[in-house]
Amino acid sequence: MDNLKNIKWGFKMNIKINARKKLKFLLPVLFSTLFVGTASAELTERPADPIKTELLEEGKKVYFKRCVWCHGVEGAGDGPSHDRLWTKPRNFTQGTFKIRWTNSGDLPRDEDLIKTLTHGLTGSAMPAWGDFLKKQEIEAVVQFVKSLVQDRDWSDEDEVITDMVSDLGENPWGAKEPYYEGIPQVDIDAGRELMVKNKCFECHGADGRGDGNPTMKDDWGFPIHAANWQQCWNFRGARRDHYNPFNVARTISTGLNGTPMPNYADKTTVEERWQIAAFVNSLCPRKKIDKLTNKPVPDFLISAEYTDGEIIPKIDDPMWVSPDDSPKIIDRAEDKLRNPRRNYIALAGQITRGERNFKPKSDNIWVSARWNKEQGLFYLLEYDLRFLSTDPEYPDGVAIQWPAKLQDLFGAEKPYFIYGDSKKPVDIWKASFLAKNYKSTYDIKPNEKTPFELDISTQELLGYGFDAVEEKDYEGQVKVVDSTFDRGRVKIMLQRALTTDGEFDVQIPSEKFIPVSFMQWSGEDKEKAEHMAISTWYYTILKPPVDEKHMWTMSFMMGGIFVGLQGWLVWMTNRTRKMYADGKVVQDERPF
Ligand code: HEC
Ligand code: HEC
Repeated sequence: MDNLKNIKWGFKMNIKINARKKLKFLLPVLFSTLFVGTASAELTERPADPIKTELLEEGKKVYFKRCVWCHGVEGAGDGPSHDRLWTKPRNFTQGTFKIRWTNSGDLPRDEDLIKTLTHGLTGSAMPAWGDFLKKQEIEAVVQFVKSLVQDRDWSDEDEVITDMVSDLGENPWGAKEPYYEGIPQVDIDAGRELMVKNKCFECHGADGRGDGNPTMKDDWGFPIHAANWQQCWNFRGARRDHYNPFNVARTISTGLNGTPMPNYADKTTVEERWQIAAFVNSLCPRKKIDKLTNKPVPDFLISAEYTDGEIIPKIDDPMWVSPDDSPKIIDRAEDKLRNPRRNYIALAGQITRGERNFKPKSDNIWVSARWNKEQGLFYLLEYDLRFLSTDPEYPDGVAIQWPAKLQDLFGAEKPYFIYGDSKKPVDIWKASFLAKNYKSTYDIKPNEKTPFELDISTQELLGYGFDAVEEKDYEGQVKVVDSTFDRGRVKIMLQRALTTDGEFDVQIPSEKFIPVSFMQWSGEDKEKAEHMAISTWYYTILKPPVDEKHMWTMSFMMGGIFVGLQGWLVWMTNRTRKMYADGKVVQDERPF
């Protein structure tokens, strides 16, 4: 707190001033000013930005080349690709815009729309147009979008806008990228208390994973879920500056029009909003974000740590704490060598076959692994899922896929990544589950864990291709040794011996790069069989027992493979970029 006191806070009383109700508000404003000594109503109010008609012709050209596919001919959000998307492309006719500097219900400033176009709306299909369009094209198309608004008039004198954000000033800790360094823990803790006091958890869940309320709708009648704060890269208003607390402070100053997300300007001071933002940001795992996909760069190599002694098959055991989570682990040299990292695996919707529905599921899995000769291999799979299935027809599920005949593959050869192919079969370890006594609406206690026990079953599948997936005709050896669902996070630990007698069981060597991939089914979204999310092939390696010499060769080798994989990633992203540039924007990835 001391840090904050040193900063000159622009302490202002933040009052919602809706122009049309200005008179009604004037009295209470004066009144509250008397009580809060330091308050000064400095929120500025001005007319909305009128449409710049001279830019409309150019804007229209851009719109019909780039935007019409999603937003539709009249801007009603009904372009040809709209029904495949979540969230839906915006219907512009009502003039409702989410990301603004203006008060709840106000129209946006031109500058807000220009920024939205330049950086896109991360976590949705709305691309970052700054990468493809010239500045003046963006300025022009913004004017055209404004002309599609039918229900409101940009030059009506009643359309007054209030700037809710300038008074936030600069980040009070002077923190620059990476922003989390330099924000004192006391402010983060204070932010958490304010989060509880303001009941954000009722929608966002106790740990901010967006699991608070399954029944919300947006103003267009579509189901909507609160943002997952642990995936800040999916915030619409992140402006491709994902860890900047300013963006969160802005959101809670303005609310998100068209959604249940309210504005907290009159309930919190400027100082408090920065603290809440610091807390919200502190929950987001620190990953390098790919500037084009706006998602974390995948960790293409999953190292299973060799474990000298017993591997404890308990998710909560300290031996499973990732060094990314706990500074204590990083500080203790011997643990640093022994605790496995949690690796980020990107998932995309499987769309090569059949209909998919694009409701929000998880778009990633976090994986950590350990091994030893006696107990075999342990994989801890974790992912965020707001709501679980309660329908035994559609259980939730997650799977690891391996080449069944690893020994027959040459070099970089791999089976087809969805269920293998006729020459190269795959071995799939699948865990399906429902939670016991689970209800998606429950009384959230912000300071308590609410774990659910999972009713879980494992299956071992053999895949020879999309239409040739069957359960192995002999007893499998994969076991679920621990599992839980708590506050929007699924955690499942699998174990198997390194070698088995099964003809189609992958036989796992140490110190070799082994292709693995991951699949995930969200029962709540009626996913089953080939309707699922899937990753590309990653690699896993069983690291040898730790000794100095080995460590050096290992890191050298891993460096090499990592550079190779990065090259591939760059190629992939360039290809995506080109697709956008050619106007072939097809959302083939889960937008969440
Ligand atoms: C691939 C589909 C797609 C294309 C192409 C697209 N958009 Fe969007 N756009 C979206 C989606 C989806 C949303 C809604 C995201 C949300 O509400 O969470 C959106 C929202 C918006 C918004 C609302 C911003 C806010 O703050 O609420 C604006 C403005 C916008 N788009 C402008 C454009 C313009 C201009 C173009 C063309 C240059 C364009 N979009 C092209 C998908 C698209
Ligand atoms: C009534 C439910 C509700 C409450 C209470 C609520 N939110 Fe939200 N919030 C939402 C919804 C819904 C969204 C997602 C909107 C969307 O996807 O467009 C959201 C989105 C967000 C986002 C992401 C913004 C972005 O750029 O996409 C942040 C950050 C956020 N809320 C913070 C908070 C904080 C902090 C509080 C408490 C001070 C809070 N919310 C209270 C419903 C709520």
